[in-house]
Amino acid sequence: MESKANNIIALIYEIIERRGHESYLGEGLSMREHMLQTAFLAENEGGSDEEIAVALLHDIGHFTDEFPEKSLEKGLNNFHEDCGANILSSFFPETVVEAVRHHVEAKRYLCATESGYFACLSAASVNSLNVQGGPMNEAEVTIFEGHTHKNLFVKVRKWDDAAKVVGMSTPPFSHYVPVLERVLITREK
Ligand SMILES: [Fe+2]
Repeated sequence: MESKANNIIALIYEIIERRGHESYLGEGLSMREHMLQTAFLAENEGGSDEEIAVALLHDIGHFTDEFPEKSLEKGLNNFHEDCGANILSSFFPETVVEAVRHHVEAKRYLCATESGYFACLSAASVNSLNVQGGPMNEAEVTIFEGHTHKNLFVKVRKWDDAAKVVGMSTPPFSHYVPVLERVLITREK
């Protein structure tokens, strides 16, 4: 495996080991549990390596302060989905990066277009929706629907929403390392 690729996986692994116990934004489970549950749901539904990688890493932007300055320059003063996408953009394919970037937009999209979706959101997710701009307006929906990877964005969002089960057992992070290795590219020179 290429050395930089090895480094980014090792770095992510170490962050999750050390800080994964932190609370997942008022949901009653930890960041590690939420990330692993999202990946597990993707895996159980026969998701591709890229889909599982997005599911696992979609909230990595919550740990932005852990990444080297070069990545931080791209991510600071942004929302967590942009921070996460920008950090990953040197190492992962565009599909993965854009799916991480759009996981909040997908919630805003589904609230605007899918009846019953809003009612299924957790209280914490409704709270953050308000901060994130609320349901999309018509113009935003049109833009979202024009995105090549729109279906992936929605899929990931639904795994994300479902991955809030307190006490659910999942494989450990190490189980997903080979998946990340298969998906990685190394764009950074
Ligand atoms: Fe999430």
